[in-house]
Amino acid sequence: MRIASVARHAPSRVVTNEDFERWLDTTDEWISVRTGMKRRHWAADDEATSDLAIAAARRALADAKLEAGDVDCYIVATATPDYIFPATACIVAAKLGAVGKAAFDLSIACSGFIYGLTVAAGLVRSGVYQRILLVGAETLSKIVNKQDRSTAILFGDGAGAVVLEASEEDSFLGAELGADGSNPSTLFQEAGGSRHPVDHAAVDAGLQYVHMEGREVFKFAVTSMIAATDVALQRAHLSRQDIDFLIPHQANRRIIDAAVKYLELPRERVLVNIQEYGNTSAASIPIALAEAVEERRISRGDVVLFVGFGAGLSWGAVVWRWQ
Ligand code: UT7
Repeated sequence: MRIASVARHAPSRVVTNEDFERWLDTTDEWISVRTGMKRRHWAADDEATSDLAIAAARRALADAKLEAGDVDCYIVATATPDYIFPATACIVAAKLGAVGKAAFDLSIACSGFIYGLTVAAGLVRSGVYQRILLVGAETLSKIVNKQDRSTAILFGDGAGAVVLEASEEDSFLGAELGADGSNPSTLFQEAGGSRHPVDHAAVDAGLQYVHMEGREVFKFAVTSMIAATDVALQRAHLSRQDIDFLIPHQANRRIIDAAVKYLELPRERVLVNIQEYGNTSAASIPIALAEAVEERRISRGDVVLFVGFGAGLSWGAVVWRWQ
C-alpha cells in the first residue's frame, strides 16, 4: 500500500492569540510560550466537518487524477462528526459523487489518523479494497467553550485527506496502537451521548463542551508518544536513527519538544506547524504531511513516523516508507 496523494483544507477564518486577548483573560505571550500556537482556523457557523473533509478530499482525488467512484471505501476520522449518526463519511462520499461505496467514521479522537492508517492498511493489504480515501477532519471550535481560556485557545478546525492504494512496494512498515479507557473524563465531551443525553440541565452545566485535565493529558502525551514510537520502530525492524521525518500530533509544542528530546531526534527531522493551526485533533497529522509534501521536503524512500495520542486515552504510531 502507498499514499497516492495527500491534501489539506482549513476554513478561511483565522483566530489569532491577540483576538483571544479581547474576550479572555489571556495573553499572546502565555499562549505562545505554553503551547507554541499563534493562529488557528475556525469554521463558519454554516460550515460543518464534512464540508472541510470534502474540500480536502476533492484536492486529494484531483492530485491522484481519480474520480470519487474510483475509491472503494471512505473513512472519516473525527471527534466532531456532523451528527452522532449517520457517519460523516457517508455524507462526504455522497457529496463527492460516490454513492454506493463503503463509508464509515472512525472515532478515536486525536489518534484517529494513526488508527485510520492502520485500519486502511489492513483492508488494502488483505485485498478487500484497492483504494481508500482517509480523511482526518475536525471542527473542534464547535464544541469548545469560547469563554474557557484553558481550552478555547487550543483547538482549531481543518481537514487532511490521503488516497491510499494497493501497490507493489509497501509503505506500511509497522504500527503500535493502544488505549486506556479507565478514566474517560480526563478528556471528554460529557453530554450528547447515551451516558448523558443533552438536556437543559446538561447545557446549563456546560457539559456539551470539551472538558480536559490539561496537566494529566500533557504527562500522558509525552510518555505515550515515546513508547509508541519505540514499539512501532521495533515492529518495523528500524531504529530511531532511521527516522527521516517525525510527524507528531500537534497538540502542544512543549509536548513535541519533550518527546523529541527524549528520542534524541534532530530538530530538522520533526515537522511542526502548530503555530498556524493549533490542535486540529485527527486532522493535525495529515495537514502537516500535506504541507511537507507540498514543500517537497519528503522524498521517495524516506522513513516517516506518524505518532499521536488523544482522548480515550489513546495513542498510536505508524512507520511509513514514502513511495
Ligand atoms: O489533542 C490532545 C488534547 N490536548 C492536549 O494534548 C493538551 C495537553 N495539555 C496541555 O497542552 C497543557 O496542559 C495546557 C496548554 C492545556 C495548559 O498548560 P500548563 O502549562 O499545563 O498550564 P496549567 O494548566 O498548569 O495552568 C497554569 C496556569 C493556571 O493558573 P494558576 O492556577 O497557576 O493560577 C491556569 O489557570 O495558567 C492558567 N491558564 C491560563 N493563563 C492565561 C490556563 N489557560 C490560560 C490561558 N491564558 N489561556
